[in-house]
Amino acid sequence: HLDASGQLVFPGFIDPHVHSRDPGATHKETFHHSTLGALCGGTTTVLEMPNAVPAVTDVATFERRRAEHGEKAWVDFGLWGMALGPANLNEIIGLHRAGAVAVKFFWGYALDRRTKGLVYDFSAAPPDSLLLPPENGEVLEMFREVASYGGVLAAHCEDRHILARSAELLGHPISTYDDLLAARPAAAEATSIAVGAQFARLTGCRFHVVHMASAEGTRVVREARAAGVPITAETCPHYLTLTDRDAARLGPAIKVYPPVRTGADQEALWAAIGDGVISSIGSDHAPHLVEEKMLGFGQAPAGGLGVETLAPLMVDAMVRGRLSPVRLAQVLSSSTAALYGLWPRKGAVRPGADADLTLVDPSGGHSISHDRMHALNPVTAWDGWTLRGRVTTAVLGGEVAMRDGEPVGGRRGRFVAADHARSRG
Ligand code: NCD
Ligand code: ZN
Ligand code: ZN
Repeated sequence: HLDASGQLVFPGFIDPHVHSRDPGATHKETFHHSTLGALCGGTTTVLEMPNAVPAVTDVATFERRRAEHGEKAWVDFGLWGMALGPANLNEIIGLHRAGAVAVKFFWGYALDRRTKGLVYDFSAAPPDSLLLPPENGEVLEMFREVASYGGVLAAHCEDRHILARSAELLGHPISTYDDLLAARPAAAEATSIAVGAQFARLTGCRFHVVHMASAEGTRVVREARAAGVPITAETCPHYLTLTDRDAARLGPAIKVYPPVRTGADQEALWAAIGDGVISSIGSDHAPHLVEEKMLGFGQAPAGGLGVETLAPLMVDAMVRGRLSPVRLAQVLSSSTAALYGLWPRKGAVRPGADADLTLVDPSGGHSISHDRMHALNPVTAWDGWTLRGRVTTAVLGGEVAMRDGEPVGGRRGRFVAADHARSRG
């Protein structure tokens, strides 16, 4: 029996952007920790990014990841595939058929052939073990291949290849937050998105921009959409709740790629959520060791925790009137499900359609604190924040799986296969 009086009942929230570091860097986080954090925060499905080590670049690795994660999942989960260009063009459709929610192209990264891990500092590996990023013609071909299946190709909103790498690796040390912003300007987002939008226009491939952080980025996506390009975009809670003004207080804990930008950028992102230019919100959960996050702005690795705070932060924004309950249900569940091909099928798991629910008490409150987090390395930019509204309950497959921030019963997450034959953008 579930008493939901006085509460808002949402379709189970989906976090489409989670890097669980499992396998390959399980000292930073594991799939057990990230899915437990998701559940306790009120998220009932996570979509796991493909850049664990080895990266999910082929169907065999996809199937292994699916089996391994199935043993550890506290919530339902889908899996991303990785698109490399010519090196795995012949796996792209197979990955989609196996149920990948989308393929992500890590624009500007290389793959270390020995470890099957992504590298972005090309001097960190011997040149002959690096699989370099594809050329434009090869990228176009990759878009064409994904289009032939009706799948989704996602990429970073920042073109690391052209702009980002230049300042950081070509001899300009980064010691302040301003250095970081200078190394990854909003212009890098705008140009990268514009190039991707051209490929999408030329091929008809659905192109999804992940973790968009700038006003310039929203402008390019809005214009492309108005011109009929099949392009969609995501942003993350850090871009909606933090700005460059928080850097002095937070130090490198705030460091993430792309960087958190200005108040004007933040306003543009909220406007883009309002008018549909941004249709999905993901956490970009990207854990690192606590000690690593204490290194300076130059040395600390980019990325922070997010999976457990995604729903509480967005519920707080709803209670404060930043977005309506209906819009919240869309950007955290129904639009995200539609984008990634998560449809109801007989006998199949679907977020929200097999009785996955998230219950919210809008008159309640919530405080974020390191000691109550389920992460392996609890260090977050929002430690000490007091939020309005409270995620009280998560229901997974018709059964209460979380109450008041703690799991109820055992782990029962299941694999969710995407079905892009029926998707729409
Ligand atoms: C992510 C990570 O560490 O995996 N880091 C980040 O700053 N966002 C990778 C990524 O999404 O770029
Ligand atoms: Zn990213
Ligand atoms: Zn990410």
